[in-house]
Amino acid sequence: MAAVTWNRARCLCPSLLQVFRLPVAKLHLGRPTMRASQQDFENAMNQVKLLKKDPGNEVKLRLYALYKQATDGPCNMPKPGVFDFVNKAKWDAWSALGSLPKETARQNYVDLVSSLSSSSETSSQGKHGADEKAQDSKGILVTSEDGITKITFNRPTKKNAITFQMYQDIMLALKNASTDNTVMAVFTGTGDYYSSGNDLTNFTSATGGMEEAANKGAVVLREFVNSFIDFPKPLVAVVNGPAVGISVTLLGLFDAVYASDKATFHTPFSQLGQSPEACSSYTFPKIMGPAKAAEVLLFGKKLTAREAWAQGLVTEVFPESTLETEVWTRLKTYAKLPPNAMRISKELIRKNEKEKLYAVNAEECTTLQARWLSEECINAIMSFVSRKPKL
Ligand code: COA
Repeated sequence: MAAVTWNRARCLCPSLLQVFRLPVAKLHLGRPTMRASQQDFENAMNQVKLLKKDPGNEVKLRLYALYKQATDGPCNMPKPGVFDFVNKAKWDAWSALGSLPKETARQNYVDLVSSLSSSSETSSQGKHGADEKAQDSKGILVTSEDGITKITFNRPTKKNAITFQMYQDIMLALKNASTDNTVMAVFTGTGDYYSSGNDLTNFTSATGGMEEAANKGAVVLREFVNSFIDFPKPLVAVVNGPAVGISVTLLGLFDAVYASDKATFHTPFSQLGQSPEACSSYTFPKIMGPAKAAEVLLFGKKLTAREAWAQGLVTEVFPESTLETEVWTRLKTYAKLPPNAMRISKELIRKNEKEKLYAVNAEECTTLQARWLSEECINAIMSFVSRKPKL
């Protein structure tokens, strides 16, 4: 974790104060003996909150460590467990300051914040500026028009990776769509990706430790997948680009899947030390046959749109340039069909499978809960989050 790079770190830490919980109100400063006064120190803490640009994990850890050293002195906390990534990284950073005097730590904190404030002002035009944050601020977009609830994965700068919050928001959107007056629900993605699947930092950024995150993850996942199994109206995916992980496996629960010819379908579970979810261990062998499903789910073979169509996972493939117009024209026509007839027909098609799907979902979630705590999985996730940033 301490090796987490600048670029990766931004997605681990949505906010300095939130992740490292800097206890601003708990300051008990003695009389300043060095250049940095108590007022300077407090001003610096306020400046941190106003930084336009997230400085990354390394810097945040340094700030945390200097703050603790300046207020509490040398690290006096018990060492957190090895899988408690965030607290372990914080402990390491604080301990590394050894017996640095409080006054020096305070001075270093003020100097560091001052250097960050000036660089933040000059670099807000960079690749990851304010526009990007605004664009990603809503993980999903939900609209209702022409009888269609459209649910859009909307984190293009993270390839539409799905956060815990997005899981919750999607469940809510499906719940609303199942009872409102729209006729069908359609999923798609903003930008070049449909979705890169589960946000791999969901676990590393959890503050309560890995085990708690895995337990919570399994509960959320089970509920999330059940909301797709239970959705009573036609469920359609417009796969505008590459799809990874759970955004692929869920497709086995959809009623129609329209894909751009630029879309790909990839489930790198073994590479990540994980196992299939969203009932794909049952639906994929049924859809493609066990031999093809094994290549996809066990070996992580990435399917092109045409291959996914040939395997029966995709309904129809469209040229990227005409996908939007052709598919949405068609969907708007379908949405004018008698809603009750479609609903009843879907019920007939799916009802014999429902109990089986609930059971498969439950078993997959229990399996994954254990997988998330396995060394194979933890190593794979850590190696993803500590990849070198692109220049
Ligand atoms: N979880 C968290 N962050 C993700 C992500 C995911 N599933 N997929 C992409 N991102 C982030 C990257 O970390 C990167 O963030 P940064 O700009 O802060 O560094 C940003 O999205 C863009 O991704 P990047 O890797 O730079 O783009 P790419 O075109 O080179 O590669 C992917 C795109 C999707 C192939 C690659 O990001 C990837 O392999 N992601 C993991 C996919 C995955 O394993 N999902 C879970 C399956 S179970």
